[in-house]
Amino acid sequence: MVLMRWTQGMSVGVPELDDDHRGLIDIINDLAALSGAEARPQSVRACLTRLHRYAPVHFGREEKVMTACGFPHLGVHQEEHRAFVLTMQGFNQSLQGDPAALAGHLAEEILDYLKNWLTHHILLEDMAYKPYASERLADVRAAAQSFRQPEFHSSR
Ligand SMILES: [Fe+2]
Repeated sequence: MVLMRWTQGMSVGVPELDDDHRGLIDIINDLAALSGAEARPQSVRACLTRLHRYAPVHFGREEKVMTACGFPHLGVHQEEHRAFVLTMQGFNQSLQGDPAALAGHLAEEILDYLKNWLTHHILLEDMAYKPYASERLADVRAAAQSFRQPEFHSSR
């Protein structure tokens, strides 16, 4: 099931970061496909593992870009990234409790969180650095030289 698609309107103007955001949309779609009462704990855990890989890689890249272009609200933005990581850790802990009973409910809770993250964080907070990045494109491209191919895309 495809719940969401990346569109050009979501572009932050840095291809590597757009690609990361597409990766998150992949995870959202995979989660949507398995949410509901019959979600298996191992499938939910696999999505959480992908999110666990995704977060430090993507947030690290974004923070490098924001530093390179002199984005003035880096600290506030980093706080949001930290909150995301803590929320994912909380989901992980919840899944340890009673995985069979919780998996379906948890998949929906994670999905709601990620959909909200996409509309609030990516479409508002990330968009705020876009003009700074386009103003200092050479600095951003230099920072992006070190980015490697992400590992959190689905195998589809
Ligand atoms: Fe961000």
